Amino acid sequence: MSTHKPIDLDDAMRKLTVPDIRARKRRDGAKPLVCLTAYTVLTARLLDAHTDLLLVGDSLGMVLYGLDSTIGVTMDMMIAHGQAVMRGTKRSCVIVDMPFGSYQESPQIAFRNAARIMKEVGCAGVKIEGGLEMASTVKFLSERGIPVMGHVGLMPQSVHTAGGFKAQGRGDVQAQKIFADAQAIAAAGAFAIVVEGTMEPIARRITDEIDIPTIGIGGSPACDGQILVTEDMAGLFTDFKPRFVKRYMDLGSGLAEAARLYADEVRSGVFPSDEHCFGVQKKIPE
Ligand code: KIV
Repeated sequence: MSTHKPIDLDDAMRKLTVPDIRARKRRDGAKPLVCLTAYTVLTARLLDAHTDLLLVGDSLGMVLYGLDSTIGVTMDMMIAHGQAVMRGTKRSCVIVDMPFGSYQESPQIAFRNAARIMKEVGCAGVKIEGGLEMASTVKFLSERGIPVMGHVGLMPQSVHTAGGFKAQGRGDVQAQKIFADAQAIAAAGAFAIVVEGTMEPIARRITDEIDIPTIGIGGSPACDGQILVTEDMAGLFTDFKPRFVKRYMDLGSGLAEAARLYADEVRSGVFPSDEHCFGVQKKIPE
């Protein structure tokens, strides 16, 4: 009798759900969750076969729109990009960030906006930033059918109170606060939690001691999953590289080089040639 479990192809191809992600705590023997950001249909199509979760992050405000922070991102922006990503995704679980101002005021307002995202995008859940102060909102949403991913540590929407995009948890008091934040969000019913830009031992402790998967970004290799901004990971930014980013490609230089070659060929008349034109009349030799 074969001891090998047959691969269920339908299972390998089906869309991952929130319970699938929730079940991926590594201490249960699971492989780390592979997560990336996606903002467009094209990137979603390219990434989908390789990822478990695609996050339509509000980082799109900085990456795509050149904003200084994520504060200016709107519901309409998140919905338009969320819809595009859904069109390009077959397998990964798609989660959409709730933008600044759409959930902090009250659980009821958070519900209204989260429900709009879920209805108009068709995504599997939403992500919100915050710790203890957001626990009642996480509870309110998750008890009403909206899966919530938390986000603690460096929280880009709090850039002004934090005084910049700085790694968090250097002292014991701050470290304890981040841990308490993660605990509160998990107890409130979040299905997973992003741990961003913390001292490594904090992300490790959160991973060890809370029972929902942690997704690290500048967190710890111990986290149950990892996420990066795709444009960082692919090297589309040629200037600044945060410490927690690893570049797997140099697409930025590749794209600039393609533009240089194209410009040279247009200016010198090499492009377009006959093969790029329609109905070209063959020149009859005299
Ligand atoms: O907005 C975003 O892209 C994020 C990830 C970096 C976790 O929140």
